[in-house]
Amino acid sequence: MKKILVTGSNGFLGQKVVDLLSGNDLYAVTAISKGTNRNPNQVGYTFEQIDLLDQSAFMGFLSSHIFDAIIHTAAMTSVEACEADKAACQLINVNLVQTLASYCEKHQAQLIHLSTDFVFDGQKGTPYHEQDIPNPQSEYGKSKYASEQILTQSACNYAILRTILVYGINGDPNRSNLVLWAKGKLAQKEAIKVVNDQWRMPTFVDDLAYACQLAIERQAQGIFHISGAELMSINEAVYKIAAYWELDKTLISEISAASIGQADNRPRQTGFDLSKSKNDLGYVPTGFIESLEIIERQFKEFGR
Ligand SMILES: NC(=O)c1ccc[n+]([C@@H]2O[C@H](COP(=O)([O-])OP(=O)(O)OC[C@H]3O[C@@H](n4cnc5c(N)ncnc54)[C@H](OP(=O)(O)O)[C@@H]3O)[C@@H](O)[C@H]2O)c1
Repeated sequence: MKKILVTGSNGFLGQKVVDLLSGNDLYAVTAISKGTNRNPNQVGYTFEQIDLLDQSAFMGFLSSHIFDAIIHTAAMTSVEACEADKAACQLINVNLVQTLASYCEKHQAQLIHLSTDFVFDGQKGTPYHEQDIPNPQSEYGKSKYASEQILTQSACNYAILRTILVYGINGDPNRSNLVLWAKGKLAQKEAIKVVNDQWRMPTFVDDLAYACQLAIERQAQGIFHISGAELMSINEAVYKIAAYWELDKTLISEISAASIGQADNRPRQTGFDLSKSKNDLGYVPTGFIESLEIIERQFKEFGR
């Protein structure tokens, strides 16, 4: 049985990873998060409430556990929060990765670290390869790139999974994302404004959680791009969501990124070349519409 630590287990991805890996004979999962456990699924794994920035608590925890792999999903994930509190962003998104890299080096554990398309400036015009040179434009992107550099310059056994605009549903009714937000607002007949000049390859959270498992199973090493395979503008994504759930598209109005202050701190166009993940990990992204069908079934499973 592989002993796995999942950080940020209350988070959007963290809950999915815990649900995917726990309750079987392959993995013994320990989940940690800052808040009390918000995952409705509370069996088949161990949970500990730990603030990763509480040095003595976290170092005490690490020194009393030996893990084979750490899936590090905890982060300061809001672009605006990182701009507003650069010091906290540095501590959580960068310094913490150094602590985990040192642990993994010492114990020959594998570190699966989550990063972002926001390490790129979005000017390339075609999907990004793993070896393209980052040029982050936001504090969040800079912190994630700095965390990547800690790993690429360390002797730690690491896999960096960069991902893009993650969507889907988990057991936390308070955690929203593009699909749940658009569906929810349109279902309530509320008008929404959607950016029409940012292009992404949105990532189904179930695919991303599975990619974390693949990275462990295949002993992945290096940087991997993990996203959906379809490039679309944000407004195109929302029109597809409205069409799938037969919601009123006239409630959608298009706006520019500049009009909401996102022209300078978010890349205009990202999207990933997925060849490496497909070839080396066996990663197969779910189609966007197929993922909406799965989400529709999951709404019922989560009683929502
Ligand atoms: N979501 C996206 O669209 C997206 C896109 C690109 C990359 N990523 C990357 O993917 C990873 C997962 O993203 P996500 O959307 O799942 O994040 P999320 O929902 O914001 O979850 C992050 C979790 O980190 C935990 N955390 C933060 N600070 C902590 C601390 N000091 N101590 C302990 N736990 C702490 C929080 O736990 P509590 O809730 O318990 O406070 C939170 O639930 C991140 O590295 C993110 O940068 C995400």
